[in-house]
Amino acid sequence: RCEPVPEDKFSFGLWTVGWQGRDPFGDATRRALDPVETVHRLAELGAYGVTFHDDDLIPFGADDIQRETAVKRFRQALDGTGLIVPMATTNLFTHPVFKDGAFTANDRDVRRFALRKTLRNIDLAAELGARTYVAWGGREGAESGAAKDVAAALDRLKEAFDLLAQYVVEQGYDLRFAIEPKPNEPRGDILLPTVGHALAFIGRLERPDLFGVNPEVGHEQMAGLNVPHGIAQALWQGKLFHLDLNGQSGVKYDQDLRFGAGDLRAAFWLVDLLETAGYDGPRHFDFKPPRTEDLDGVWASAAGCMRNYLILKERAAAFRADPAVQDALRAARLPELARPTAEDGLAGLLADPTAYETFRPEAAAARGMAFERLDQMALEHLLGAS
Ligand code: GCO
Ligand code: MN
Ligand code: MN
Ligand code: MN
Repeated sequence: RCEPVPEDKFSFGLWTVGWQGRDPFGDATRRALDPVETVHRLAELGAYGVTFHDDDLIPFGADDIQRETAVKRFRQALDGTGLIVPMATTNLFTHPVFKDGAFTANDRDVRRFALRKTLRNIDLAAELGARTYVAWGGREGAESGAAKDVAAALDRLKEAFDLLAQYVVEQGYDLRFAIEPKPNEPRGDILLPTVGHALAFIGRLERPDLFGVNPEVGHEQMAGLNVPHGIAQALWQGKLFHLDLNGQSGVKYDQDLRFGAGDLRAAFWLVDLLETAGYDGPRHFDFKPPRTEDLDGVWASAAGCMRNYLILKERAAAFRADPAVQDALRAARLPELARPTAEDGLAGLLADPTAYETFRPEAAAARGMAFERLDQMALEHLLGAS
């Protein structure tokens, strides 16, 4: 089955299919999409959710009447299609006021405005039933050394998140925050550049339980990192609150390709992980249909994201179910890795001569690990050759 259904929990940002193709070198190649049209198209394609930045729904600077109208029309589209809003976020990067960042801008007035803009959209997120609030600090960074005092900026970032969490608790909202790392672009260097940095930062917040991560496939790959490994650690720490699926080919600009494009093997292992490690949140696509596409191409690209996920899910399940693979996993000693190293405790370890005195390193070193056979089986399942 490669036709998406709501139970698959696929969601898309309004800004993804709605991207008009404006890049640093060229103007828009597509017309703007009405959020109402997007909701209907996504529902027809089999998605279950839609996400948004405040400004995707309500243009920056809109008055109260425009705001009410936009929210009302959006709500009607949701009610009419059954689509839900699992996540919302704030645009703290497009308007020139955010040129030096938002929560960490050197200009204090900008920081206070950024907090108020975010708090306002948190109210809307809660009103629309969102359970996750994403925080991507795209412009929290610098291009030059003395321009940003990183320790002071991290103090301000912590201050901002502590205030946002306090607000959510005081309002009684059922909402958690997911911090989205990215190494660079649009800033030369961005704070909290990787999943690891974000996880470490969360431990310093006043209410760490309210914070997790929203890793984006391509962002970790821009830093040359292994996405399934980063996401496995986030899961291991109970911190995978949400994720952004897309495609990226190696260390270069943020490509935001459709899921399955770019590093296909990473996509395969990621789906295998998500489907076996107990992640039950949204499968959210944050991609940009290339500016070569017209709107038919945009919807084909969105459908491709979901189709590729389902194909990879099927291939990964076939890999896991294959008896030859199970043998190969045993040969590669995976069950042994799952066993504690010293269930006999420190005293047992120290008293065990086979652990040291009679251990023969040369013999252990000579044992092959049989990983190549296992990986070839995975590749053949991925290619549909097994
Ligand atoms: C990117 C980012 C953004 C954020 C989004 C949520 O590709 O640089 O993914 O798309 O996810 O803006 O705030
Ligand atoms: Mn993203
Ligand atoms: Mn991206
Ligand atoms: Mn993106």
